[in-house]
Amino acid sequence: MTVLGIETSCDETSAAIVEDGVVRSNVVAAQVDHARFGGVVPELASRAHLRLIVPVVEEAASRAGTTLRALDGVAAVSGPGLIGSLLVGLSFGKALAFALGKPFVGVNHMEAHVLSNLLEEQKPSYPFVNLTVSGGHTQLILVRAPFDYEVLGETIDDAAGEAFDKVAKMLGLEYPGGPAVDRRAREGDPAAVRFPRSSFDPDGYQFSFSGLKTSVLYYLRDARNERDQMPARFVNDVCASFQAAVVDVLLKKFFRAAEIFGVHDVAIAGGVSANSSLRSRAAAEAERRGLRLFIPRMEYCTDNGAMVAMTGYLRLRDGARSSFELSAEPNLSISRP
Ligand code: KG4
Ligand code: ZN
Repeated sequence: MTVLGIETSCDETSAAIVEDGVVRSNVVAAQVDHARFGGVVPELASRAHLRLIVPVVEEAASRAGTTLRALDGVAAVSGPGLIGSLLVGLSFGKALAFALGKPFVGVNHMEAHVLSNLLEEQKPSYPFVNLTVSGGHTQLILVRAPFDYEVLGETIDDAAGEAFDKVAKMLGLEYPGGPAVDRRAREGDPAAVRFPRSSFDPDGYQFSFSGLKTSVLYYLRDARNERDQMPARFVNDVCASFQAAVVDVLLKKFFRAAEIFGVHDVAIAGGVSANSSLRSRAAAEAERRGLRLFIPRMEYCTDNGAMVAMTGYLRLRDGARSSFELSAEPNLSISRP
């Protein structure tokens, strides 16, 4: 069974082919330069999707050595995401499936992130706990069985990646801020500043990063009153200390969930899983607890068509079909696919 997956929920235009659960191609187009504006500009993103969707889909088919006519089904993300961006991929996917006379299924972007863990040869076994951390999401999920998700917790304000991006901006670092903070943190002392670990929802699984962000802001304001410039060592220490606070909070809840729900497998997905401290500390803690940790390769962590094609393949194989009337939903929840 050969399935095309289309991802246009934010600023990546991506398409991929999955054949019987194996990735045959995954094309991600470089969009317009959102970095110039310090963040994703929704209107520019949707216009770029319009320009890129046809060549990206054609390239995905050609790299997989197949044709669109040979497809057995089409999958496209219907939410959550930016409405203008979602509409491009979803409308295109529906129209293509209709024209080809092939089944269509709408895919939940958050489910696709969870199932990105199935794109690698080594796959987690059910049940497993998954943490999706990116610029737009921070979500802790118990995956009980195929298609059976329980959202344990989410962020009530900023996503983890968003907090990285905002702190980087305060420090005058480049966008996106995550990789910039990560790089400097490697040269800094994580114990230099004791930033608060959110005491919000201490016994639950909800996250909040806005208090931490504000405390970095106040710390920098006070420091600026004492000196004109921020020396490199100071910036490195702030990055390392901020990053330590984020990783502490994420991993504490992640491993507590694993313990409470008695799972043996745990997984991390989303762009922030590129963070070197998150990766190494999660690996060490998983080993200490005798758990198996899964993090897909970077190409599958950031928004990509492969995770959508995989989710579509599994859903279509399970008999799911979406109507051509399916509409884009910016706030679609994973518990309601
Ligand atoms: O998954 P992604 O590419 O896009 C979204 O769906 O949001 O994630 C991008 C986010 C950005 O906020 C970026 O700063 C963050 O992931 N990120 C990192 C690192 N690399 C990317 N955050 C921390 N450390 C990194 N090394
Ligand atoms: Zn995403």
